[in-house]
Amino acid sequence: MVDAPPSSSSNFPADRRPLLERLRAVGAAVPHLPLADLPTPLGELVLDDGCSFWLKNDGAAAPVYGGNKARKLEWLLAEAQAQGASTVRTTGAIGSNHCVATAIHASRVALRTELVQTPQPLSDHVRLNILALSCFAQRMTLVGSYRGVAPAMAWARLTDRFRRQRTYPIPMGGSSVTGTLGYVNAALEFAEQRARIGSTERLRIYLAAGTCGTLAGLVVGLELAEVAAELVGVRVVDEAVTNEGVVRELVAGTWARLEALGLKRPAARVTWTLRHDGFGDGYGIGTPAGAAAQAELTRHGLKTEATYTAKAAAVMLADLRGGRAPAQATVFWHTLNSQPLLAALPHDALTRVPAAYKRFFEVSR
Ligand SMILES: Cc1ncc(COP(=O)(O)O)c(C=O)c1O
Repeated sequence: MVDAPPSSSSNFPADRRPLLERLRAVGAAVPHLPLADLPTPLGELVLDDGCSFWLKNDGAAAPVYGGNKARKLEWLLAEAQAQGASTVRTTGAIGSNHCVATAIHASRVALRTELVQTPQPLSDHVRLNILALSCFAQRMTLVGSYRGVAPAMAWARLTDRFRRQRTYPIPMGGSSVTGTLGYVNAALEFAEQRARIGSTERLRIYLAAGTCGTLAGLVVGLELAEVAAELVGVRVVDEAVTNEGVVRELVAGTWARLEALGLKRPAARVTWTLRHDGFGDGYGIGTPAGAAAQAELTRHGLKTEATYTAKAAAVMLADLRGGRAPAQATVFWHTLNSQPLLAALPHDALTRVPAAYKRFFEVSR
């Protein structure tokens, strides 16, 4: 465990958010912090063999650390502040992008971050994330496996009482109904940009699916915007975490929240599927198809990684090349941070790694 003070907050430009505008129009409001740089770009990517798709790129969605989590944190951290919390607590694997995004953006608004984490296969990406967490999170607790998370969380909640600390809990991946609002807003943003695709045909949108808040938010937002689309979430986490029931529950919960705020659910439904054929041998374990997609997309200037985005891209490319995405405009929703994280870390980052995490940096002889 490590305990360090959070850095101070700064000013953010109050960008417009289409979801806030919709809510305002019905006299409703939800706490929100403009942490992200939106809208993110939508452009076309053409590969060497002529295979092409639209790229909605959330890589630089926020200063310091972009990717999909920044969008969720605009709503989560605002709710934490509105509830008077001084600290947010969340969980994920040691290489979790969600944990990194939470710690970085929480520090921008002077919220402390406490983490309970589980081991995962090591890679340079994982080690970089541990370094970032060591600089931005105030408390990091490592447990042996997923089964250790609930007891460690319960213990931390107990210590909140003794420390007189008000803590806002953020579920794994930021996928509560509140976090999901970030992708409802993203879908409304995309709907405004969509004219650029120049076709009114049904869209097919591919993305990586973990805790499913990104997918569920896009389903709700595209329904709200009345855009005909089919979403394809490529499962990248064990089925106990990523499954159809989780998506259905998040979609229903998010719609219940929006309807309670006065928004109406249109009759037309957005269809979605979870694909289980890109997962391979486990969370954080790359697949050969993912590695090939990663190499190909890198040549075209798009950086992916083995755990999430390469697996999603591999399924999309196989569908496109196998003729399984017929006569539809295909979109890849890119969810990986593209900001230079290493450059944002202090030179002594390695010395800040908590004792329990040091073994992840040992060099085997
Ligand atoms: C790069 C990246 N893509 C996709 C996802 C999955 O998003 P969600 O958990 O909302 O399904 C994550 C989650 O950590 C991620 O880090």
